[in-house]
Amino acid sequence: MSLISKLPQVGTTIFTTMSRMAQEENAINLAQGFPGFGSDPVLLELVAKYTREGFNQYAPMSGVSELKQALAIKTQLTQGYYPDPESEVTIVSGATEALFAAFTAIVHPGDEVIVLEPAYDSYVPAITLNGGVPVFVPLQSPDFSVDWELVGSKITSKTRAIVVNSPHNPSGYVWTIEDVNQLASLVSETGLFVISDEVYEHILFDGRTHISLGSNAILQERTFVCGSFGKTFHVTGWKIGYCIAPKVLSTEFRKVHQYLTFSTVTPLQYALAEYLEDAEKYLELPAFYQKKRDLFLKGLALTPLQFKPSQGSFFQLATYGHLSKKSDVLIAEQMTRQLKVACIPVSVFYSNGQDHQVLRFCFAKKEEELEEALHRIQKVASLF
Ligand SMILES: Cc1ncc(COP(=O)(O)O)c(C=O)c1O
Repeated sequence: MSLISKLPQVGTTIFTTMSRMAQEENAINLAQGFPGFGSDPVLLELVAKYTREGFNQYAPMSGVSELKQALAIKTQLTQGYYPDPESEVTIVSGATEALFAAFTAIVHPGDEVIVLEPAYDSYVPAITLNGGVPVFVPLQSPDFSVDWELVGSKITSKTRAIVVNSPHNPSGYVWTIEDVNQLASLVSETGLFVISDEVYEHILFDGRTHISLGSNAILQERTFVCGSFGKTFHVTGWKIGYCIAPKVLSTEFRKVHQYLTFSTVTPLQYALAEYLEDAEKYLELPAFYQKKRDLFLKGLALTPLQFKPSQGSFFQLATYGHLSKKSDVLIAEQMTRQLKVACIPVSVFYSNGQDHQVLRFCFAKKEEELEEALHRIQKVASLF
């Protein structure tokens, strides 16, 4: 059959491959980014309540008002601005949908979109399926900060948008106020649109705070802020997220959303709306995850791997280039098969697969599981 693929480069993702390998090898899975612990019984009970009470038919296309309002209140509390719930907040089926709908709303064939690498894997297919052209800009070694001069040098008359992600997957880099201001001046000079992936907005360490791009007056006008309740409340399987954008952008965004999924699971929306009334549920997350990150770093420090502490997200990178030049894909595979701990090789986050001998570990796991994984990683020298 002569089927011409629209995504010829895309095969099975490394996340699927490594999770399958972890299962086959009975390895601890620190590869895929999902929590290895249960979610709050209070939230689960709310879902049961709303399904029992009959909230089981289609929700309004842009989301139920209660959840849009709760999210606007959360945004006021954490970011100091109040998006209009009815015209600027849309509830979607996961941040993945928010990202796809945002790209589809603004990218026309031939438009260039700046992608900072290493990058989460859903951006590039969403750009190319819309006929756009990704323009890659590497983040700087060793901390994965943004080289703003380099970004500026890549802007052409065809540049339509930039996609950014803080806290960053895979590096854990968290944007500073200088980063936000640099992007704001770039946007006011060039009129770019911004797609801001903020799914790890509540996971930050060492007293850092998350600066949503929506909180900057210049950026607010041109940015789609994409978030994920799945990541925030340890329920990644629910696939429920949101997009906050000014009315003109939200109108176009919703045109796409209504034909992608139309609406998102009704009882989950009501449950999350009620759950969000207690701000502690998200304000306590930095402390909750800091314990896990610190435990992970303590164990990692006893290995020959090198690392800089993650600033945010639930990922920690570690390098072994000083010990071996073996490929990161090979080391990740050997670690899974021989040490029984699965991780992700960071080369897969680059379009050209560049390999800096870096591995990504997800530490959103139970403490005893992390301790056992660290015990196994102590033998990492045997792989080099
Ligand atoms: C940076 C980043 N963006 C978006 C997503 C997808 O979020 P969701 O599960 O809500 O679609 C992920 C999930 O791993 C992610 O790491």
